[in-house]
Amino acid sequence: MAWVNGLQDVVAAGTELSEVNGEVGKLSYRGRAVADLVGHFDYEDVAYLLWYGEMPSAEQKTSLNELFFCGRQAASEVFDVIDHLPPSLDAMNAAAIGLLCMRAQSSDESDARTPAWYTAAFPVLLLRHHANQHGLAKARPDIRAGHVATYLYLLRGGLMPTREEVQALEAYMILTMEHSLNASAFAGRVAASTRANTARALVAALMTMTGPLHGGAPSLVLDMFDAIGSPARVDEWLEQELASGRRLMGFGHRVYRTVDPRAKALYNIAANSLAGQDSLVLAQAVERRAVELLAAAKPGRRLHPNVEYWAACVLRSLDIPHSLFTATFATSRMAGWCAHILEQRQCDKLIRPQAVYVSTR
Ligand code: CMC
Repeated sequence: MAWVNGLQDVVAAGTELSEVNGEVGKLSYRGRAVADLVGHFDYEDVAYLLWYGEMPSAEQKTSLNELFFCGRQAASEVFDVIDHLPPSLDAMNAAAIGLLCMRAQSSDESDARTPAWYTAAFPVLLLRHHANQHGLAKARPDIRAGHVATYLYLLRGGLMPTREEVQALEAYMILTMEHSLNASAFAGRVAASTRANTARALVAALMTMTGPLHGGAPSLVLDMFDAIGSPARVDEWLEQELASGRRLMGFGHRVYRTVDPRAKALYNIAANSLAGQDSLVLAQAVERRAVELLAAAKPGRRLHPNVEYWAACVLRSLDIPHSLFTATFATSRMAGWCAHILEQRQCDKLIRPQAVYVSTR
């Protein structure tokens, strides 16, 4: 029996949630191109689309907003747990602990309130720990604002972000909300298939996202920019990096064989918010040269910037600290993971593949 390392090209599920066309660089949620969702709908609308297959009506939206509000309040009920965690603990780990400590609003895992509840709670827990870690002002999470505006509000200790800032982060969060059977969604589905509860399945997904080959790359992209320093050093630095066998962070993708459509959309936002700044000039220079060098080093592989590359620039332009980049990505993905968990529960089949025993003797 043969097996496929990394399950590359193995089809392990059918999903109605999103379609990724890696050859032409297209991504759609429930049949709607993501690029058409950005700027027209907010995070909550798109989350609802993923969970229930349609945009919410005005009445459904009011209920949805209320559920997000309740989820934030429920998160604050476990602040005493968060406030006793060691500051050295990573914010993602702290938020995961918080999720596991939250009172389940119902023992029924098919409760329709569950996805909004956990999606809203996650950043509240995360940012509470972040504030504790850095001795920052702590804002109360029970505000009547959108999910994305609340994120920035809590991060900034109670300062409301501008409309432009919310638009930029909302675009990022919608573009990165869901991406088919990526490693973290798969992990969440495996956990859900065992009938583990939603919080536990979400934690499985969360922890899977932390690795640099998945959600851990954006801060490494900024580390690369910092290490390069100026456009004059781009060639030399990239050549050395490739010669030493290291991967260039923010390039390549398991599925896309052309430019990641999310990277394209985020580039426009970065170009707008960083117009005229040295950091944009450097990022453009690195992108140009890296694509040339990767094409020469890996002919036929077609390595382009992925979502993390321009996401790093957008997150930096919003003054989101490096240490929260992966966690911000996870905040976006909560809605997508919840959608996968819902879909997996409908199929109700334990995910349990086979392995071939390979003797070393
Ligand atoms: N820099 C240098 N070489 C690369 C890169 C890169 N960024 N990406 C792939 N390669 C090489 C790789 O070394 C391999 O070479 P060889 O065949 O000689 O061993 C070849 O290209 C094929 O790579 P692969 O590992 O089979 O590709 P993959 O589909 O398994 O990996 C990837 C995809 C994203 C893990 C990889 O491109 C990578 O490590 N990129 C850098 C990290 C990064 O940007 N991660 C964020 C991923 S996007 C976010 C998300 O959707 O989760």
